[in-house]
Amino acid sequence: MKIEKLKEEIFSLKSLLVLTGAGVSQESGIPTFRGEEGLWKNYNPQELATPYAFEKNPKLVWEWYNFRREIILKAKPNPAHFGIKKLEDIIPEFLLVTQNVDDLHKEAGSKKILELHGNIFRTRCTKCNRKEFKKEILREIPPKCKDCGGLLRPDVVWFGESIDEEIFSKILDFSLKCEAILVVGTSAVVYPAASIPFIVKNNGGKVFEINLEPTQISEIADISIFGKAGEIFQKLT
Ligand code: OAD
Repeated sequence: MKIEKLKEEIFSLKSLLVLTGAGVSQESGIPTFRGEEGLWKNYNPQELATPYAFEKNPKLVWEWYNFRREIILKAKPNPAHFGIKKLEDIIPEFLLVTQNVDDLHKEAGSKKILELHGNIFRTRCTKCNRKEFKKEILREIPPKCKDCGGLLRPDVVWFGESIDEEIFSKILDFSLKCEAILVVGTSAVVYPAASIPFIVKNNGGKVFEINLEPTQISEIADISIFGKAGEIFQKLT
């Protein structure tokens, strides 16, 4: 069975990079972005997740982030989040890179984690850059900085913005030295995240994938398992 094969491969590794996307939190009740029931089916990312949108209408953008905070606050980590934490405990050199902003990996106990697209519960002042992390729904929107009165924004990466260089260079270093990457629940269409499995592959590493359906990663994957990540992780770890 494919899961048995993947288990055998993964548990013999000395180093592993795990890359996750919205699919890993789907079984926790958080909608994904693409696909039939994805958020981008009903909402326009250009009007909600770009610096231009925020400049034009910060209140609307904050309403959208408050709405997502509300959904996420009700959610709990699922067996995929816990399974990934288990891999962190077992594999000597481990790094989790997530595109998710929902904080659920941390809630499941993951420590060796880099949040590529930021965190929905962190705000950043557009004037003084002060950051604050609070797991709550904001009462007054758009919120203002306690220190300087500047406008606060969600500390996430929007379309058209670049990824934190320090974070990406850490990911690159790990991609070049790890034995394998496990890609879970991402459509792998947003860059630079989507390039990470290709970097690992080009460097001689193995590529494993867990997703509901084939993605562009499937073409380079040594093993692809199609199904729900939570259900697969229950058998895997
Ligand atoms: P997407 O919504 O693009 O893709 C979700 C992937 O998860 C799809 O390939 C689904 O097939 C798969 N999936 C859904 N449910 C699953 C389940 N239960 N188990 C396993 N797989 C499942 O989400 P991302 O790839 O994370 O960025 O999207 C990347 C980025 O685009 C996001 O971080 C966000 C978005 O727009 C920004 O907002 C900047």
